[in-house]
Amino acid sequence: MSISIKSPREIELMRISNHMLCDMHRELEKIICPGLPTIELDNLAAKFIKDRGVKSNFLDYEGYPASICVSVNDEVVHGIPSKEKILHEGDIVSIDAGIIYKGYHSDAARTYGVGKISAEKQQLIDETRNSFFEGIKMARAGNRLFDISNAIDDYISKFGYGIVRDLVGHGVGTELHEEPQIPNFRQDRRGPRLQAGMTLAIEPMINLGRGDVVWEEDEWTVVSEDGSPSAHYENTILITDGDPEILSLY
Ligand code: MF3
Ligand code: CO
Repeated sequence: MSISIKSPREIELMRISNHMLCDMHRELEKIICPGLPTIELDNLAAKFIKDRGVKSNFLDYEGYPASICVSVNDEVVHGIPSKEKILHEGDIVSIDAGIIYKGYHSDAARTYGVGKISAEKQQLIDETRNSFFEGIKMARAGNRLFDISNAIDDYISKFGYGIVRDLVGHGVGTELHEEPQIPNFRQDRRGPRLQAGMTLAIEPMINLGRGDVVWEEDEWTVVSEDGSPSAHYENTILITDGDPEILSLY
């Protein structure tokens, strides 16, 4: 059990993988509108990935059946795109995706409103994103892993939202999920010391209501237990000797 430190060459491959993923998210965002079946997002992603000769790291992961995850409203993560599932005005939709480029993984998620959404849902989206940025203020060599978790919790708890505890962020590199696990809630144990060359996927998942989640019958889709809307924001970041670099946002 150890956290891999990436070489300059590996970091460059991670950067390329993540920049490509950032571009893909920008393309996906453009087609979101009321009436869109979520499978269209998966189709676009599959084509984007194929055109560039890269791979989806979600497709076939433990049998996952699509290239990306598309989670609507009370779906927290791992929603399976479908031609039956149509986006409606006022929905919020989270897109989680990753690419493998020359063996190196990227992982990032965004949540968007569909058409006009309530102020309450918009704030949930905005504060979930903000909590990521609060977390990475602590993502500096010499700090401890729990500094990131605690910063996210301290920030988001002010709004009375529920932090999802059953799912966490993670190291990322030659595998989609590497050591360490990165909870989005307060930790008593300090965890490992952060070092330059670590690449981490930090991904707060935040519910408007309580943070409890349940799995649907498809064994993938995670939903909030109380049915409240949920937002997700994730980037792959690099720990450096100075400010962290957000690899999947450029
Ligand atoms: N991005 C997700 C995570 O880090 C991984 C989804 S894998 C899938 O947890 F198979 F569910 F798509
Ligand atoms: Co992830």
